[in-house]
Amino acid sequence: MSKSRWSPFPQIASSEITPESVWLNRRNLMKAAAAGAGLVAAGEAMADSSVPQALDFVSAPDGSAYKAKEDLTPYEAATTYNNFYEFGTDKSDPARFAAAMTTDPWEIKVGGLVKKPGKLHLEDILGGFDLEERIYRFRCVEAWSMVVPWIGFPLSELLDRFEPDTGGKFVEFKTLYRRSEMRGTRSFTSIIDWPYREGLRMDEAMNPLTLMTVGLYGKTLPNQSGAPLRLIVPWKYGFKNIKSIVEINVTDRQPKTSWQELAPQEYGFYANVNPEVSHPRWSQAYERRLPSSLFNPSRVKTQMFNGYGELVAGMYKGMDLARYY
Ligand code: MTE
Repeated sequence: MSKSRWSPFPQIASSEITPESVWLNRRNLMKAAAAGAGLVAAGEAMADSSVPQALDFVSAPDGSAYKAKEDLTPYEAATTYNNFYEFGTDKSDPARFAAAMTTDPWEIKVGGLVKKPGKLHLEDILGGFDLEERIYRFRCVEAWSMVVPWIGFPLSELLDRFEPDTGGKFVEFKTLYRRSEMRGTRSFTSIIDWPYREGLRMDEAMNPLTLMTVGLYGKTLPNQSGAPLRLIVPWKYGFKNIKSIVEINVTDRQPKTSWQELAPQEYGFYANVNPEVSHPRWSQAYERRLPSSLFNPSRVKTQMFNGYGELVAGMYKGMDLARYY
């Protein structure tokens, strides 16, 4: 597949993880090139990764589960009605305050039960994987939903580079925790034991639907959507879709996850979308498709596994889904 991907840096085949020295050299090269051409300001603007940049990608095939047929939620709605508690608990807080988060440079540590522990840097992520657009339904446990064209690559491709051991049964994820840039983590009313953590079973992590996501609507993620890298697991409730990831560990035990720790009777580890298992405080049978309002609630029937059962139900065969919610 020959396609040029967005990157302000010269492309280097990054089938290998880039050592920091190489990465720094590339950045310096770019700066030098920009200065030589009298383009310092432009170069600096490009390095500001909080401004979404165009991405190159291929579209998922028509008619596949990777391309939902529903109308897309408008960009505006998907990027102004968010949950990102690091920046506050109001739905409008992430769009207002997440620009304070520095996302370049960015480093992701991958370790635990893997043969080749290491690090990924921002451009290893943006330039080192073939990017694909997937149109997925997204269902929050709070019973709102959206349809978003995400851009990313299968998590399995990332994990394969670090060679998980056969004893690795789960994958744990952690979000950046930087108090100085995250007003929500400094709040007295903050209820989460930071950093935000999530986890998947290894077969879930390796499922082809599970997407490491770098963009949406053709561009890099805005900070409020979890820049520069977040998880999208479309058959699970939204809280599994951890944002702004800095650490990934392969483990032999089920990892502790933020919402399960906080309210285990309300939020389980599996969190598979299931219209038949109510949340203790509300039904999960229907959802409000964004944008929704009092006069136009856009009520939609919630589907088992959010409509992805054909690709995922087999992983839960014989499990009591009311017990493992
Ligand atoms: N990741 C982090 N780090 N912090 C969060 O508060 N909220 C989760 C999830 N990932 C959250 C997070 C919840 S509850 C949801 S519904 C989705 O992000 C929301 O994603 P969106 O804002 O892109 O719609």
